[in-house]
Amino acid sequence: MWSYVSPRLIIYGEDALEALSTENAERVLIVTDKSIEKLGFIDAVKEKLKASKIEVFNEVEPEPSIDTAIACAKTARKFAPELIIAVGGGSVLDVAKMTRILMEIDVDPIGILPSLDLTELGFKKRSKLIAIPTTSGTGADVTWACVLSDKAEKRKMTPANKEIVPDISILDYRIVEKMPKNLIAGSGMDALTHAIEGLVSIWKNDFSDAMCEKALELILENLEKSYNGDLSARAKMHIAATMAGLGFGNSQVGLVHSLGHAFGAFFNVHHGLSVGIFLPYVLQYYRKSNAKDILDKVSKKIGSGDTNGLIARITTLMRNINVPTRVSEVVKEKEFFENIENLTMAALNDASLAMSPRIPDFGEIQKIYECALFGREVDF
Ligand SMILES: [Fe+2]
Repeated sequence: MWSYVSPRLIIYGEDALEALSTENAERVLIVTDKSIEKLGFIDAVKEKLKASKIEVFNEVEPEPSIDTAIACAKTARKFAPELIIAVGGGSVLDVAKMTRILMEIDVDPIGILPSLDLTELGFKKRSKLIAIPTTSGTGADVTWACVLSDKAEKRKMTPANKEIVPDISILDYRIVEKMPKNLIAGSGMDALTHAIEGLVSIWKNDFSDAMCEKALELILENLEKSYNGDLSARAKMHIAATMAGLGFGNSQVGLVHSLGHAFGAFFNVHHGLSVGIFLPYVLQYYRKSNAKDILDKVSKKIGSGDTNGLIARITTLMRNINVPTRVSEVVKEKEFFENIENLTMAALNDASLAMSPRIPDFGEIQKIYECALFGREVDF
């Protein structure tokens, strides 16, 4: 048995934020971070609301900890909102998703595993959750997992349950009009990786394929234009990131995310860049798996020839949007080799690996990392 998970509503367009004026909640909790607040987005959201009481939790940090979600839930329990609105990037959206669970149920977030049925724990969704992404990449507005850091254990946890998905996603094009270039590139590479990994995951299905294929086409057509200031391309990227989220959220990511999660955690590199840098190398590695047939077919459809053509197109795109194409551009060789064994072990233990169409062993992961360090082709 399979299912397709998504919010019940996705509202998009230049004036999508206007949809908030139809919300009748009296008590609204806005979850965000301080930089988003400074950009004026929270004032814009408040202006649309009729609510008599609005509380703002702005303490979400990058790579947020479980403790932040617990603190936000404490605020939510006290305030008892009818509506929670998350305004921010993936970190903010993930904290808000977990907050909605924790404000109702006394549960250890680490214990929320994909198999746990929250409805049996009495999760009634007393608060509606609206996600308003301010970047175009994570797809967190439509996925049913959240990534939180367990700072004490120095690891990332991914509590997941189909009840976690937000009720509504609002994709307002104006919100991403002033996104900084480095964020357009980084979050765009995350979306591109989601679209491709969702397409070749062993959990792929007809629903996820449709979303991933269209997202891939839109991203390859629009990311560079968006980076160079084309606002209609930026609007397309905002849609594409959410489509990729619906795609990979219903099939899963794979080896690129395993390598990227470990790399990002060790060297403190932005998630989108951490995964993007390994994308061409993993696609080279996948050429000796059934993923090649899938990628050949999709590449032909979108005018990239075959898998090799797609890899070349991605590498050119990365150079054109100033994304590093080899690890040595980001980390010093000596520092990289000092950590290579721990890095390889972390990638090997990452949950995303299980859904890859070809699963490397310890030695192969290390070799892929080394190829990515020096910009060498993965030919094994
Ligand atoms: Fe990602």
